[in-house]
Amino acid sequence: MMERQANREPELRTPVYVVDEAALRHNLSILQGVQKRTGCHILLAQKAFSMFRVYPLIGQYLAGATASGLYEARLAHEEMSGKENHVFCPAYTPEEMQELVKICDHISFNSLAQLEAHRSVWENSDTSVGLRVNPEHSTQEGHAIYDPCAPGSRLGIRRCNLPDTLPEGVEGLHFHTLCEQDSAPLVETFAAFEEKFGQWLPGLKWLNLGGGHHITRPDYDLKALEDLILYIRQKYEVEVYLEPGEAIALNAGSLITTVLDVVQSTDMPVLILDASAACHMPDVLEMPYRPPLFGAGEAGEKACTCRLAARTCLAGDVIGEYSFDVQPQIGDRLVFGDMAIYSMVKNNTFNGMPLPDIALRHEDGSCEVVRRFGYEDFKMRLS
Ligand SMILES: Cc1ncc(COP(=O)(O)O)c(C=O)c1O
Repeated sequence: MMERQANREPELRTPVYVVDEAALRHNLSILQGVQKRTGCHILLAQKAFSMFRVYPLIGQYLAGATASGLYEARLAHEEMSGKENHVFCPAYTPEEMQELVKICDHISFNSLAQLEAHRSVWENSDTSVGLRVNPEHSTQEGHAIYDPCAPGSRLGIRRCNLPDTLPEGVEGLHFHTLCEQDSAPLVETFAAFEEKFGQWLPGLKWLNLGGGHHITRPDYDLKALEDLILYIRQKYEVEVYLEPGEAIALNAGSLITTVLDVVQSTDMPVLILDASAACHMPDVLEMPYRPPLFGAGEAGEKACTCRLAARTCLAGDVIGEYSFDVQPQIGDRLVFGDMAIYSMVKNNTFNGMPLPDIALRHEDGSCEVVRRFGYEDFKMRLS
């Protein structure tokens, strides 16, 4: 479907991220269902997806947004006004705290020292403060850089570093441990959390279960998630927050690219694209993973296998090997799937690569270019 749309949209200049409003709405209605059935609050984690043009739409379904620092908090304050605004950062500067207390409903701290360093500011505000804790229970394999419970982690206070009585003024606890996971690892993690930190829950106002919940994936076990939330709310009488990022815009966007050249390497043809893994989809190299490509198969599956690579100087700027019924030619457009999340929020202009445009496909099928970038966007960040 996406390829047809790409071909029907020759006016789109590539590379371009195209976010699909209908797919976004589909995800949002699933999340809204969880809120309605359990009474929990779901927040958009902006680190995954910050296309603020659709914040009013997101605000129709979710309780609000969460931020990783002042800039994201300001973005939600400005573009999703009237909704809840939360923030967690491992350390805040005094200047940031002065601004955050004016625009945030919840602020979570990563240490007792940070809590105390900013006490005089938050104590004189309406903001509710909490502590991020570390349940020290890993449920991830293979992705240590995404595991806040990995040995040596700096994220979250460990049980052994908390006093028996929580410091005056603390109203909530926060933990974030998952990455692209189903509800079973959350249930398991909550049990570890409850054993270590459960003693404080009855006196608190809220518990934030972080992100990493792949709630909008078709095979996600919603019932187990909802049972857990209801259990927490009934037993401890706290408000429950979830702050997924990926789940909001999962499979809700694509990156359309054009084949600029085809070079013959030692083993196979290499398609040189106007999209780059390093610049436009860094998680392909960082995580690493192989993004889905519409109409293509695994290497060797179809008649012609090609390596897809960028036009940067980085030898390893390779997106992956894909097979096609017919070898793509110069000028052909290719469509990578699931490119709304952790893509435009992480892109960069290494090698002076142009940033992809950002477009929105409306529900009537029309496509609007929301933002176009140019040379000035590259230049102004450099001096
Ligand atoms: C504290 C916190 N909350 C929420 C998220 C969002 O996670 P995801 O996009 O995997 O749902 C992250 C991701 O790193 C995080 O660190």
